Amino acid sequence: MIPRFYNKKIKVGFLILTFSLIIFYILNVNIINNEISQELLESHALYQSKRSPFNPRYSTNEVFNYINNEETPIASKLGDGIVFHWDDWVDLSSGDKILNKYKKNNPNGECDEFLKKYASVNGYYMESYNKKIYRGMSNLYCLKEIPSKIIAVSDDNFVEIPVINKLRIGLNNETIHKQPTKHDLINQISRFDSKPNENFQIFKFRHLQKQIDVKAEDFVFNPNLEIFKLQKKLNDDSITNDELNYLKFLEYADSIVDSADRFFKYPWIYSDVVKGRSHHLAYPFFKRFIGDRERQSVIHHMVRAWFKFAEANNFASWVNYGSLLGWAYNGVNMPWDTDIDIQLPIAHLDRLAREFNQSLILENPRYGNSKYLLEVSPTYIRQGNGRNFIDARFIDINSGLYIDISALSHSNFNPPKEFYNDLPWDQQVDHSKAMSIHCKNWNWHSLEEILPIRHTWFEGASIYIPHNVSRILTRKYGKSSFTTKSHFANHNYQKDINMWVPDEICSKSPSLNNRFQNLNQTKLTLEGACNNPILQDEYQIIAECAHRHLKTNIDVDHFTDYDILKLNDLPLFRKDSWDYFNDLNLGLVNTDRWYVRDDVL
Ligand SMILES: *[C@@H]1O[C@H](CO)[C@@H](O)[C@H](O)[C@H]1NC(C)=O
Ligand SMILES: *[C@@H]1O[C@H](CO)[C@@H](O)[C@H](O)[C@H]1NC(C)=O
Ligand SMILES: *[C@@H]1O[C@H](CO)[C@@H](O)[C@H](O)[C@H]1NC(C)=O
Ligand SMILES: *[C@@H]1O[C@H](CO)[C@@H](O)[C@H](O)[C@H]1NC(C)=O
Repeated sequence: MIPRFYNKKIKVGFLILTFSLIIFYILNVNIINNEISQELLESHALYQSKRSPFNPRYSTNEVFNYINNEETPIASKLGDGIVFHWDDWVDLSSGDKILNKYKKNNPNGECDEFLKKYASVNGYYMESYNKKIYRGMSNLYCLKEIPSKIIAVSDDNFVEIPVINKLRIGLNNETIHKQPTKHDLINQISRFDSKPNENFQIFKFRHLQKQIDVKAEDFVFNPNLEIFKLQKKLNDDSITNDELNYLKFLEYADSIVDSADRFFKYPWIYSDVVKGRSHHLAYPFFKRFIGDRERQSVIHHMVRAWFKFAEANNFASWVNYGSLLGWAYNGVNMPWDTDIDIQLPIAHLDRLAREFNQSLILENPRYGNSKYLLEVSPTYIRQGNGRNFIDARFIDINSGLYIDISALSHSNFNPPKEFYNDLPWDQQVDHSKAMSIHCKNWNWHSLEEILPIRHTWFEGASIYIPHNVSRILTRKYGKSSFTTKSHFANHNYQKDINMWVPDEICSKSPSLNNRFQNLNQTKLTLEGACNNPILQDEYQIIAECAHRHLKTNIDVDHFTDYDILKLNDLPLFRKDSWDYFNDLNLGLVNTDRWYVRDDVL
């Protein structure tokens, strides 16, 4: 097997030699139950990054050139806005075997009928690992809708940039474009913020509030009524263009919601049917399995990006379920959790769909290189056939990892009897007093356990959570889940360090008097980390998040009187995942630690 390369100089040559053999064996040969080691996943990522000319800063830099009024090849000649081709924005090099020929013959990014047909196979069609990747990369290259707009994020502003037409520039080419550095991008941000360009639609960055009380009406959405109202306007000739488009959309959505296939797809792969490693990666963005630590980095960055975007646009959303359970322990996601679950009122989702469906939101380049595609399923308008219970996704386009977004609504359906058991007494006695809301996967809530949503920190970032966390977690996972349970998914919770530790590293806290390196307990000694440098690194990453959690929460429902602005968000502690692999490949770092400390402004 691949040796551990932690904290040693990476033996890239060795890895590449052994690599292709092992990967072929493990990923393609049908070893249904095989564990893939984290080392192998990391070395695969390292290998892909080394071979690829892709650099996410190219496209970000051109976007800032565009909004800073500089020359840029992405300015569209057909109107105010930019051109877009997925090949300039996502690393499609895993599909090179198929796509190279096309890039060469048609640098503008066109496809022929043959490739289009190849790319149009449903992601759920069961295939081999490699074939699935070729399909996904070809799908992005040829068929996937381009975003309707790009949203660039600076320190003070969100800037909307229309996408006008599909055209490949060939940005990821060192021989024609200079590689921008992080420093270059920070200068771009400062230039924009010091003199925002008036030609763009801008919305301002805002800090999250202590709490938000959402109107009860926001949980009600009746597509038939909306259609009826819009038809009336159509008859009166008083309908606007936007309204007409909305009417057409609602009529279309209403006609398909009872028969629609799943809108959000993950790749189905023979060798993955049992383990399901690909079930948390969006097709067609999937290009490899993602290791645990890379995933945690993507999530760490993604949560911040979502809540900043939502706050600036007045969408009230909150974290629930697995992510909320993770929060209840130590203020971070549980290390084995594969996604983030977010909910919002149906009326907010409706507005999100109308204003931002198919928007590509950039991460502030000061913090990382990610880009997130917001996609809303047309089936959100009502319950439908039950195949589409996720209403929207916020997808990291370079890994395929995502935030699941579900709307809660009050409907004509009645909750099961058990739903009333843990409600306040008067609502148990008189069911008509309980205001029930649910998502399309039949998770029921009462309005007063959600509202008002309140501020907290998760992964060091400001987020919102529901009002009555204890009731929600008890109903979903049982009372012990967040009070006494200290063993989950082959991890044990070590109270002295506020952390889930894999049993294979150590099954309980070691009894030592020198577990910590320093008085403020932000670093473990190697012994204190059960002689495992990864645990040492992980602890340094979560220590301050966990400390903040304990300091600002009395229990899951009660918090101390803190000042959001004074405490501020914590720094980013997980390195950007593209930087992580790139820095190792270029020899810019000599340790493979994920820990960083990037202060937020
Ligand atoms: C990079 O650009 C050069 C010059 O236009 C071209 O010859 C080459 O094929 C390009 N490389 C890739 C990988 O597209
Ligand atoms: C969002 O955009 C995608 C891609 O264009 C489209 O398939 C989908 O129906 C849209 N959803 C809504 C809610 O308009
Ligand atoms: C949460 O719900 C439980 C059970 O109904 C109730 O006892 C408790 O007071 C509620 N907590 C808050 C903060 O409302
Ligand atoms: C913890 O202590 C170290 C020195 O022992 C210091 O460098 C670091 O800034 C401190 N961290 C915090 C969060 O106080």
